[in-house]
Amino acid sequence: MIDYQLLYQALEVAGAGEWVSLLPSQLERAFANQAHGDLPRWQKIVEELPRLAANDVDLLAQVRIGAEADLTGVERQALYDNLMGLHPWRKGPYQLFGIDVDTEWRSDWKWDRLSQHISSLKNRLVLDVGCGNGYHCWRMYGAGAKLVLGIDPTLLSVMQFQAIRKLHGEAPVYVLPLGIEDVPAETKAFDTVFSMGVLYHRRSPLEHLLELKGCLRPGGELILETLIVDGDINTVLVPENRYAQMRNVWFLPSSELLMLWMRRCGFKNIRLVDVTKTSIQEQRSTDWMRFHSLSDFLDKDNQALTCEGLPAPVRAIVIAEVD
Ligand SMILES: C[S@@+](CC[C@H](N)C(=O)[O-])C[C@H]1O[C@@H](n2cnc3c(N)ncnc32)[C@H](O)[C@@H]1O
Repeated sequence: MIDYQLLYQALEVAGAGEWVSLLPSQLERAFANQAHGDLPRWQKIVEELPRLAANDVDLLAQVRIGAEADLTGVERQALYDNLMGLHPWRKGPYQLFGIDVDTEWRSDWKWDRLSQHISSLKNRLVLDVGCGNGYHCWRMYGAGAKLVLGIDPTLLSVMQFQAIRKLHGEAPVYVLPLGIEDVPAETKAFDTVFSMGVLYHRRSPLEHLLELKGCLRPGGELILETLIVDGDINTVLVPENRYAQMRNVWFLPSSELLMLWMRRCGFKNIRLVDVTKTSIQEQRSTDWMRFHSLSDFLDKDNQALTCEGLPAPVRAIVIAEVD
């Protein structure tokens, strides 16, 4: 069981007392909603993981927790089997006591693209909206953040995070099974807010930008990463149905239009720092994610298109501040 007292205290101090008063019931509801699915099996896996107290930890250059020599072959096999029980692993990679959790995504590549552009995270209170299993939360903590809170409504991701956290040991890094809509409007508590891979899942992208703005304290920094399309300030793609097989994709603006949206929402000092086409090396099937992946979602004869005939995924990273 994770003790949230330190998190609650930090949020209180930062002025997010209203959210702290709501959090216990929000968490109870989130876990109760899925109490009859796979959740009990995932919880059992996390409960049965040994407390290994890793000495050898690197969160700065990668997420490596524990050394191969810390475990016997039998112990490592048991850990491998338990972690595999939490398949599919989408975000990573993780090096855990000599086990290479080779996830669907090379999330470290995204981190490498953005980390040189953001303000130092030293001593900052950070919110990672739609954090998946928390891979980047560990990197943010490794980069010096005082406390990192990730939120993601997908319970399997949250349980994967809990498994990693148990292997790491106590740390001011938390992932809660919540969505951005659970953060009270105008909380204005976080020094840095990340929203990566979320905007295109929102039916109202400008509302999402305003929600993110409301999470930031005055002078705070937003790091936004989302799918874009080629085009001018008037270009936006709204897929008729699926996009690269994903349901639930709504707005893919050009980078120019994205920055206009951000200006209209009141962000300042808006910089486009990276545009990268997603490669089939960055997102692919592995032993740890055995379902279809990007290469199956692209046109077989033309990798510039998705299988629906739309422009293949290109992602932009934009950094901005609030007054
Ligand atoms: C494409 S993944 C991105 C994960 C990670 N941020 C990254 O960049 O690698 C999008 C994540 O957003 C989460 N998500 C979807 N709706 C959300 C919401 N309303 N609030 C917060 N997260 C949400 C999904 O569960 C999913 O894990």
